[in-house]
Amino acid sequence: MRTDEPKPRNVPLVWSPYDFEVVTSEVLTRPDSSPSRSFADVIAKRRSAVGNPVDLNSVAELLWWAVGWKGYASGGRAGLPIAWATSPSSGGLQSVNVVCIADDGSAPRLYDPVHHVFLTLRADNELVQAENRQSVLSVTGLQSGCTLRLVSDCSKISAAYENFDSLVFRDAGAVLATICLCAEWLGLAACPLGFLGSAMLPLLGLPQDRFQAVGGVQVSRPRDAKG
Ligand SMILES: Cc1cc2nc3c(=O)[nH]c(=O)nc-3n(C[C@H](O)[C@H](O)[C@H](O)COP(=O)(O)O)c2cc1C
Repeated sequence: MRTDEPKPRNVPLVWSPYDFEVVTSEVLTRPDSSPSRSFADVIAKRRSAVGNPVDLNSVAELLWWAVGWKGYASGGRAGLPIAWATSPSSGGLQSVNVVCIADDGSAPRLYDPVHHVFLTLRADNELVQAENRQSVLSVTGLQSGCTLRLVSDCSKISAAYENFDSLVFRDAGAVLATICLCAEWLGLAACPLGFLGSAMLPLLGLPQDRFQAVGGVQVSRPRDAKG
């Protein structure tokens, strides 16, 4: 497969944030302390694994460290909103969204990285859960835990770059690695998921001419963890 070289557009395209169909929002608490584990210990111990069910507060804490925006500006080089977060991103655009699908039958939640809020999306929960269980099972042989689906807003990268296709996947890889490292740091298990997850987009009401499913991570409680 040939992938063309990305190039910043001379004149960026017009872009505006997507109006997600949100049913309810759940304000989360920002962590007030952090684990004292050294970075050396984290990078020595990180391994992919699927364990036991995990509570959503732990997932929210993980998301804050791994994906939450620590700063942002309304206009970067391309005149588009940019943000600072733990993962590097093409042009600072942070165009990867995270949708959490818990294994407790609850509705899918979009993580708002600016306000640290879960936004419950309007969707057919049963269909979403069934599709998620089947696809996680097919690539890991297991299904417990919370699935973090990575969904790129291609329109944002495309507004800033010609030949943006590879940037979408490289951004997703950076987010994936960051989530896995932060999970290890926080005492959680994480396993990258090999599927792209395109079948989930229509179930979440996300138009495929704007969004691209770019994989996911299964987050769970390590089997040997207490509590
Ligand atoms: C892009 C990507 C996709 C992956 N997909 C899966 C998967 O579908 N199922 C799975 O069990 N592990 C998956 N993994 C995890 C790898 O199998 C794992 O990283 C590799 O075996 C090395 O093990 P370690 O992560 O414990 O060091 C994936 C890893 C990456 C980077």
